[in-house]
Amino acid sequence: MDNHSFEEKRIATAECLGIEPNQIPRHVAVIMDGNGRWATERGLKRFQGHEQGAKIVESLATHCVNCGIEYLVLYSFSMQNWKRPKEEVDFLMYLYAAYLEGIRPSLMDKNVQFAHLGRREPLPQEVLDALDKTVRVTSVNDGMTLGFALNYGSRTEIIDAVRTLAQDAKDGKIDPQAIDEQAIGDHLYTAGWPDVDLVVRTSGEMRISNYLLWQISYAEFYVTDVHWPDFSLEEMNKALLSYASRQRRFGDTKAKK
Ligand code: IPE
Ligand code: IPE
Ligand code: MG
Repeated sequence: MDNHSFEEKRIATAECLGIEPNQIPRHVAVIMDGNGRWATERGLKRFQGHEQGAKIVESLATHCVNCGIEYLVLYSFSMQNWKRPKEEVDFLMYLYAAYLEGIRPSLMDKNVQFAHLGRREPLPQEVLDALDKTVRVTSVNDGMTLGFALNYGSRTEIIDAVRTLAQDAKDGKIDPQAIDEQAIGDHLYTAGWPDVDLVVRTSGEMRISNYLLWQISYAEFYVTDVHWPDFSLEEMNKALLSYASRQRRFGDTKAKK
């Protein structure tokens, strides 16, 4: 899909929302938090919250496709989430593998490219197979990129990039003085993508939890108290409207157009 097609979608969405097309973010990163609290508040088990949370992902991704968003990254499992009870981790791994199998036809239908952000080890083989197959099958698509940050840790991502660059310098492939923002960005999972414009966190916590630290350098934040399983398209539109109201200055005295 060329830039024109994204732009056409942004023009239509902007008109619906009463904003300008350039006020729609290109890259949105979501911290899908609050599945556990959603379940507990209803007297349900935590895993039921995860199940419900998974159910809303598809409609949200489709909404983002329709809005002309180019990159949507969903924080699905952090490297720190391995600390959780084994039953919960096992359930989540089962859920991701099954979910990826199920979502593939819809990704093809919506022309979505799929990407995995995170280390492979120690993800179970079924999850790796499901991730790899989804990446492979959707690689023919050229619409929105949907990234799953799964077994993801931002500091680890940066460490891996620095190690590769250090090795390249040692091997004489790169001059240390040539290591710049571009060189580091090119070694992250998001190589070649624009920086994150908007971070959305559900369930009210005002923290970043080791998510895309490099990529969010100048991102706008939107935090809502709504728990992830209740995050509807209307809630997403609220996030987009809030983003549109921001003046992004990037250190300048006035907003960048
Ligand atoms: C987010 O919901 C899902 C994952 C981290 C996998 P939580 O499970 O963190 O829900 P809370 O924060 O306990 O409510
Ligand atoms: C962040 O949520 C990770 C995901 C949404 C997958 P957490 O629930 O793990 O974050 P903390 O522990 O509240 O910082
Ligand atoms: Mg949480």
